[in-house]
Amino acid sequence: MDIRIKLLVMLNILVLSRYIYGLWKLRKITFHYDAVVYLQALMDNWKNTPPSWVGSDPCEDKWDGITCTDSRVTSITLASINLIGEISGDIGQLSELQTLDLSYNKGLTGSLTPAIGNLKKLSSLILVGCGFNGPLPDTLGSLPQLSYLALNSNGFTGPIPASMGNLSKLYWFDIADNEISGSLPVSDGPTPGLDLLFNAKHFHFGKNKLSGQIPSKLFSSKMTLKHVLFEDNRLTGTIPLTLALVQTLEVLRLDRNLLSGDVPSNINNLTRISQLFLSNNKFDGPLPNLTGMEILNYLDMSNNSFIPSEIPPWFSSLQSLTTLMMQDTRLQGEVPADIFSIPQIETVVLRNNQLNGTLDFGASYSTSLRLIDMNSNLISVFAQRGTYSADLILTSNPICMETVATEAPYCDPGTESNSSYSTPPNNCIPATCGSDQISSPKCTCSYPYTGTISFRAPSFSNLGNSTIYTSLQNSIMISLESNQLPVDSVSLAHPKKNSDDYLELTLDIFPTGDNERFDRLEITRIAFVFSNQTYKPPHAFGPYFFLAHNYDFFSDAPKGKHKSISIGVIIGISVGGCVLVLLLVIAGVYAYHQKGRAERANIKNNPFDSWDPDKGSGARPQLKGARSFTFEELKLCTNNFAAAANIGSGGYGMVYRGSLPNGQLVAVKRAQQGSTQGGHEFKTEIELLSRVHHKNLVSLVGFCFDEGEQMLVYEYVVNGTLKDSLSGRTGIRLDWMRRLKITLGAARGLQYLHELADPPIIHRDVKSTNILLDERLTAKVSDFGLSKPLGEAETHVTTQVKGTMGYMDPEYYMTQQLNEKSDVYSFGIVMLELITARNPIEKGKYIVRQVKEAMETGKDLYNLHEILDPILGLSSQQLQGLERFVDVAMRCVEETGIRRPKMNEVVKEIENIMELAGVNPDVESTSTSESYEGKRSSHPYLNDFSYSGGRLHSDLEAK
Ligand SMILES: *[C@@H]1O[C@H](CO)[C@@H](O)[C@H](O)[C@H]1NC(C)=O
Ligand SMILES: *[C@@H]1O[C@H](CO)[C@@H](O)[C@H](O)[C@H]1NC(C)=O
Ligand SMILES: *[C@@H]1O[C@H](CO)[C@@H](O)[C@H](O)[C@H]1NC(C)=O
Repeated sequence: MDIRIKLLVMLNILVLSRYIYGLWKLRKITFHYDAVVYLQALMDNWKNTPPSWVGSDPCEDKWDGITCTDSRVTSITLASINLIGEISGDIGQLSELQTLDLSYNKGLTGSLTPAIGNLKKLSSLILVGCGFNGPLPDTLGSLPQLSYLALNSNGFTGPIPASMGNLSKLYWFDIADNEISGSLPVSDGPTPGLDLLFNAKHFHFGKNKLSGQIPSKLFSSKMTLKHVLFEDNRLTGTIPLTLALVQTLEVLRLDRNLLSGDVPSNINNLTRISQLFLSNNKFDGPLPNLTGMEILNYLDMSNNSFIPSEIPPWFSSLQSLTTLMMQDTRLQGEVPADIFSIPQIETVVLRNNQLNGTLDFGASYSTSLRLIDMNSNLISVFAQRGTYSADLILTSNPICMETVATEAPYCDPGTESNSSYSTPPNNCIPATCGSDQISSPKCTCSYPYTGTISFRAPSFSNLGNSTIYTSLQNSIMISLESNQLPVDSVSLAHPKKNSDDYLELTLDIFPTGDNERFDRLEITRIAFVFSNQTYKPPHAFGPYFFLAHNYDFFSDAPKGKHKSISIGVIIGISVGGCVLVLLLVIAGVYAYHQKGRAERANIKNNPFDSWDPDKGSGARPQLKGARSFTFEELKLCTNNFAAAANIGSGGYGMVYRGSLPNGQLVAVKRAQQGSTQGGHEFKTEIELLSRVHHKNLVSLVGFCFDEGEQMLVYEYVVNGTLKDSLSGRTGIRLDWMRRLKITLGAARGLQYLHELADPPIIHRDVKSTNILLDERLTAKVSDFGLSKPLGEAETHVTTQVKGTMGYMDPEYYMTQQLNEKSDVYSFGIVMLELITARNPIEKGKYIVRQVKEAMETGKDLYNLHEILDPILGLSSQQLQGLERFVDVAMRCVEETGIRRPKMNEVVKEIENIMELAGVNPDVESTSTSESYEGKRSSHPYLNDFSYSGGRLHSDLEAK
C-alpha cells in the first residue's frame, strides 16, 4: 500500500480514537455529575481539604474520606482534619449519601442547612465536637433511614424539632452539650414527638437548656431505651409515673435539674438500672425505696430536700452497689454498719447530714472501700476496729471538736487524694523526644493523636484502681487493631471526675513503625471509630463520648483549594462533529455494554475480585468448597427477596427462606448494604463454615459476593432455635429425653470445633438462639460470625470481648483472653436453660445463682422443683439423671476455666446419663410428631452483633 494512504488511515484512526476517548469521558462525566459538581460546590466552602483531592472525579480518583458506590457518593468521613468552613445547601444534592461524619473539626461553623432533609438515604449523621450553631432544622425529621445521630458538643440552639418523632429507625440520639432549649416534644394528634421513637436506645440530651416538665406521654412500655441522660438541664415538675414502664432502662441521669415533689415509688420496678443519678434537684418527698434495683451499681441522690429520715435498711440489700452518694439529703440517726459490708462498695458519701451517735464499720467491712466522707454530721464516737485502708473524713463532727481526737487522721481536712494514673511504659525506658513528640508506651518518639474520652455514667467510683484503666486501654487497642488502623499503642492519663460527674481521661494514640505521624486518611478512620461508637468500652464504663484535640502533624502536606475542573472544556472537545458524535454514541454505548458484560463475567469467575481489603474487612477469604452464587440466582430462589420469604431481620440484615433449583431449602442471610462490620463477620463465617463439616453444625451451602451484596446461604434448619422450642413458641414438646439428645448433639458440635477442626475454633457466642433443631430434633450449632480460630501452639487469643449477656464467661470478660473454656461456660448456661426454660438473666436474677441457691437446701432433685421447667414433670422417675446433669452444668459454669471440664468430658457425661436412663445416645429420634407452625419469630441466623456486654457485677455476684 502507498505509504501516504497508510499514513492517512493511521491519522484517521488517531482522530477517531481521540473522539472515542472524549466520548468515554463524557459518559463518565454525565454519570458522575452529582459527585463532581455538588461535592465541588460543597467543598469550595472548605479550607484544609486533604491533599489527595486532586483530579476531577472524587470517585474515580479516590479522594480520601469519600466513598462511592456506582459512581455516586455514599459516604463522607472527614473527621479531625482541621476543616474550616460551612456546610452549604449543595449537600442536599448528594442523594445517595448514607454516612456523613465531619466530627472534631472545630472550624466548621454556621447552621445545619435544611437541605440535609433531602438526603433520603442518610443513616448516620455525625457532627461531634464541631463549631456548628443555630437551630436544628425541622427537616431532620424527614430522613427516613436515619439511625445514628450524634450532634453533641456544638453550639446548637433552639428547640428539639417535633418532626424528629418521625425518625422511626433512630437508634442513637445524642444532642448533649449544646444550647438546646424548650420542652421535650411529644406527639399530639397529627404532630409527631419523641414518644414515637420506639427504636431509640439512647437519649443523650445532657448539658443543654431543656425546660418544662418531662411529659408523661414521653415514656411507654413500647419504648426500648437503655440510656436516658437528661442531666444538667432546666427540667421542672415531677418524674412522670410512666418512666417505670421503660423496663429496658439501664442508666438514668436526671441530676442537675429543677425536678421536685416525690420520686415516684414505681421507679423501683426498673430492675435493670445499674446507674441512677437523681442528685441536685428539689425532690422533697420521702426517700424512694429502691429495693427492686438489684443490680444497681451507682446511686447518687445528693443535694435534695427529702423528708428527714434514717438511713433506710434496704440500702444494704443493694448488693451490687459500688457507690452511694447521699450528700445533703437530710439523713439522721445512726449509720448502720452493714452498708460498709456490701461486697463491692467503694465510696460512701454522707456529708452534710444529721447522722449522729457512733460510727462503726462493723466487723466485716468490704476491702474495696476507698472513701467514707462523713464531713459535717453529728458523729460523736468512732468505734475503730484495727486499721482501715479507706480514706475516712469526719471533719466538722462533734468527735473532731474534742481536743483529744483532733490529732486523728480522720479529723485532718487534708487534701482530697486525686488519682494520678497514666499508662506506664511497657518494660522499656521512656525515650527523650524532640518538641511536640511524645514517648509512646513502647518508648518510641512520635506525634500521637490525642483527645479526651469521657464516660457519662461509669458503674464504679474508685479512680485509683489501675486494673480498670489497663482493661480500657487494651479494649481500645484491640478495637483499633481490628479496624486495621496503623496504631502502635495507646495510653491513658489523668482520670478525673468533672463537674457533671463524667469520668474524663486523656487518650493518646501512637502511630506504628517509623511513621512518627498519621496521615489524614488514618486520622479520619481512627476518629470514626470513636465518633461512630464503633469502639465499645467494657460494660462497667457505661456510655461515652470522645472529643479530639487538633492534630497538627499530618504526614501529608496540607493543601489549599484544589483545582477546579472544567467540565465545559471536555464537553467542548467532545461535541466537535455532530454526526461523528452520533455515530460514536452508538459505538460508546456498545463499548460500555461490552465492558459491563466483561465485568460481570469477571465477578462470576472470581467472586472476590472486588474484595477490598482497605474497607476494614481484612484479606480475601480463604475458601474451601463453598459454592458461589450470583445475585440473580439468589434473587430468583427467594422470589426477589419477597416479604413472604423473610423469616427475620436484625442488625446484620435480613434472612430469607429460599429454594434452590434442585429443590434444596436454604436460609439466605443478606447483609445490610454498607455494614462494614458485616464485611468482617462475613469473611470469618465463610472461611470457618466452609471447612467444618459435622452433623451437629449448620452447614454452609454457599455465599454471594456480587453487585455489592454479601449473602450467606445455609442449609435450612426447619425447626428453628432451641430457644423458640423451650419457650413454647414452636409448639414442639421437649421432654427430658429429647433435651438430653439436644444437649448431646450441641456438645458434640462444640467438641468438634474445639478438638477436631483444624485449626481449632472457639465459637464465642454459644447460646440457645444459636442452637437449631432440624426435623429430627438434631441439634445444630450455628452462627460463627464471632468465632475465632486458634493459631498453631496458641492456647488462647486475646480479643475484644464479644458475646451475649448472661452467657459470657466472666473470666474472659475480665482478662479478654479467650479459650475454649469460655464456650464451656456458655454451654453450661445453655444446659441450665434446658432444665429451667428460663432466660439466663430474668428479672435481674442470674440463673447460675438461682440454681446454686436452690441446690444449697439440698433435697430431692436438688430442690430444683421451683425453677424446673414445668413441662418436664416433677417426678424423679421421669427425670432420671437430672442431678448428674445439673452437676455437669454447674462444673461448666465454674468461675475459673481450669476447673471447668472440656467439651469431650461433657459429651461423655451426657452419654453416660443417657445410657443409665436406658436410651442409646446414637439412635436417631423419629421426626417430630407435634405440629410445627413456622412462625415469623426471631430467627436463628440473625445476630445483632451489638455487643451487649456481660453484666460484670451480677455475673461476679453469682459466684
Ligand atoms: C421496699 O419495697 C420492698 C418491695 O419492693 C418491700 O418489701 C420493703 O418492705 C420496702 N421497704 C420499705 C422500707 O418500705
Ligand atoms: C440521734 O438522732 C435521732 C433523731 O434525730 C435521735 O432520736 C437520737 O436520740 C439521737 N441519738 C443520739 C445518740 O444523739
Ligand atoms: C480493680 O478492678 C478490678 C476489675 O474491676 C477488680 O477485679 C479489682 O478487685 C479491683 N481492685 C481493687 C483494689 O479494688
